[in-house]
Amino acid sequence: MDSPTTIHVPILLAPITEALTLPLLERAEPAWILDCTFGGGGHTKALLDRLPKHHGVVGIDQDEVALLRGKKRLSDDFASGRLKLLQTRFGDLDPETLAPHLDGKPVYGILADLGFSSDQLEDPERGISFMRDGPLDMRLNREDGLSAYEFLKSASEKEIADIIYEFGEEHHSRRVARFVCEARSKGELPSRTAAFAALVERAIPGGGKGSRIHAATRTFQALRIHVNGELRELDNLLGSVIMNLEVGGRLAVISFHSLEDRRVKQKFKSEDSLSELTKKPIEADESEMASNPRSRSAKLRIATRLR
Ligand SMILES: C[S@@+](CC[C@H](N)C(=O)[O-])C[C@H]1O[C@@H](n2cnc3c(N)ncnc32)[C@H](O)[C@@H]1O
Repeated sequence: MDSPTTIHVPILLAPITEALTLPLLERAEPAWILDCTFGGGGHTKALLDRLPKHHGVVGIDQDEVALLRGKKRLSDDFASGRLKLLQTRFGDLDPETLAPHLDGKPVYGILADLGFSSDQLEDPERGISFMRDGPLDMRLNREDGLSAYEFLKSASEKEIADIIYEFGEEHHSRRVARFVCEARSKGELPSRTAAFAALVERAIPGGGKGSRIHAATRTFQALRIHVNGELRELDNLLGSVIMNLEVGGRLAVISFHSLEDRRVKQKFKSEDSLSELTKKPIEADESEMASNPRSRSAKLRIATRLR
């Protein structure tokens, strides 16, 4: 069941709030910040608290449950129009598509805190984590596209192996794909996360013993990225979505694995219209890592639009 309150703790709240609100603190004309990954609304709330009252936030999420929860949690800002909520993939928000939602006001900040919220990870019905048994689904929006189980049921062995290798950087991808297809041909493909994790564990030589991560971690990451088109979404964000940003506006991206951070770093370097403000990615400090373990792998990069 999705809880009516959020359990998600926003990561790197202070540097994000400071960096994204700065271009707007002295600006007299109203403007927006886009929170492309609204989630539990933690970053949005801090941005709204810090921004002068005539500015607002457009909160975007694919997950309807997150937006319904946010509408209740931030009901005053929603009622006053300082907060708008849009259910869509952020990667679809090129300037033409977004314009009708902006009431003619410019965008001076874009935030993307990638991946899943704790509300989603802890919900067994979403089937994201092998720590919680649930249907092998993994979709952010359960109305959109194939679930992980449906993908594994229909894809070729090579396709499955390639995805596990490319998006999970799993060296035993071929063995995992073979085990999946063998189980499938016997009509025994697991449709639940715990049983699927056990199958992956059997496929990994030695069951992954001696590794600091669970044997199924990389395969679960790969399926999650594939099912949700996560890298395509990030590429669109760094391509057409940033075209919404005004000159002098800022883009902040928190990534959680190297496949994402590499893309952000390269784009910030190669794109003439962007200048990276963070020479090295900002990471959580010891106390944040201790109180919020999810922050351990977070890397924040911030850029400003030059022209
Ligand atoms: C890490 S959480 C964000 C947490 C949020 N910053 C907070 O403070 O509560 C990521 C959220 O982004 C959403 N999301 C991820 N990829 C998305 C995409 N491509 N389009 C729209 N929403 C997406 C997820 O559904 C999830 O709710």
